[in-house]
Amino acid sequence: MASKFLIFSLLVSFQVLTSTLANETGFVGTLNRKELGLHKKDKVSHFKFFFHERFTGSNATSVTVVPSLPNYTATSFGLVGITDNALTVGQEPNSKVVGRIEGLYAGTSQTEFNLLVVVNFLLTEGKYNGSTIAVLGRNRLSLKVRELPVIGGSGVFKFATGYAETKTLYLDADRSTIEYNIYVSHY
Ligand SMILES: *[C@@H]1O[C@H](CO)[C@@H](O)[C@H](O)[C@H]1NC(C)=O
Ligand SMILES: *[C@@H]1O[C@H](CO)[C@@H](O)[C@H](O)[C@H]1NC(C)=O
Ligand SMILES: *[C@@H]1O[C@H](CO)[C@@H](O)[C@H](O)[C@H]1NC(C)=O
Ligand SMILES: *[C@@H]1O[C@H](CO)[C@@H](O)[C@H](O)[C@H]1NC(C)=O
Repeated sequence: MASKFLIFSLLVSFQVLTSTLANETGFVGTLNRKELGLHKKDKVSHFKFFFHERFTGSNATSVTVVPSLPNYTATSFGLVGITDNALTVGQEPNSKVVGRIEGLYAGTSQTEFNLLVVVNFLLTEGKYNGSTIAVLGRNRLSLKVRELPVIGGSGVFKFATGYAETKTLYLDADRSTIEYNIYVSHY
């Protein structure tokens, strides 16, 4: 009994000590997980979105801001583009809008057509309104399904982790239809 108490008090004082040590700097301290709601079990959600890009015209939604290097037109190495599209629940462009995808893409491979994708999914529906999911990954367009990591989020998605799967459903010189399935664990 006494030894149990000793171990308990050692543990407690060790914890007090580590948090005191951490805070000696004045700018960093340890935090109780409860204060951030992190004591609850995380849940895993599956989001399914579609978006429709327009590459041409005065209302284009995905535009090249830096063209690929002259010797790399086959792989688009050096290309930088910006994208901002409405996210819809259905494949039809006029289906309900539930958010936006905003971000950058860049040609980062000298040997294959591959885009580095850095995008935020901004949700605008219900309890998700204003929350974002950040995705950063390698989008190798020759693959039917590409997997990109979810690297974090804001709002509902603070401390989020997971991955996204993306498919090109339609593509021509003027427009595309893209599907995203995002599997994300969050609190
Ligand atoms: C460090 O400790 C002081 C005093 O308890 C507290 O006011 C301050 O917010 C702490 N700083 C951090 C970053 O936790
Ligand atoms: C803008 O986009 C729509 C499709 O949503 C298209 O029908 C229209 O022609 C476009 N307008 C211009 C000026 O590009
Ligand atoms: C690009 O291609 C041209 C013609 O084939 C060649 O002369 C030039 O050295 C190449 N530049 C680079 C950076 O590879
Ligand atoms: C989402 O929040 C904004 C304010 O940040 C509000 O204007 C808008 O109506 C909200 N949308 C929905 C669908 O609740």
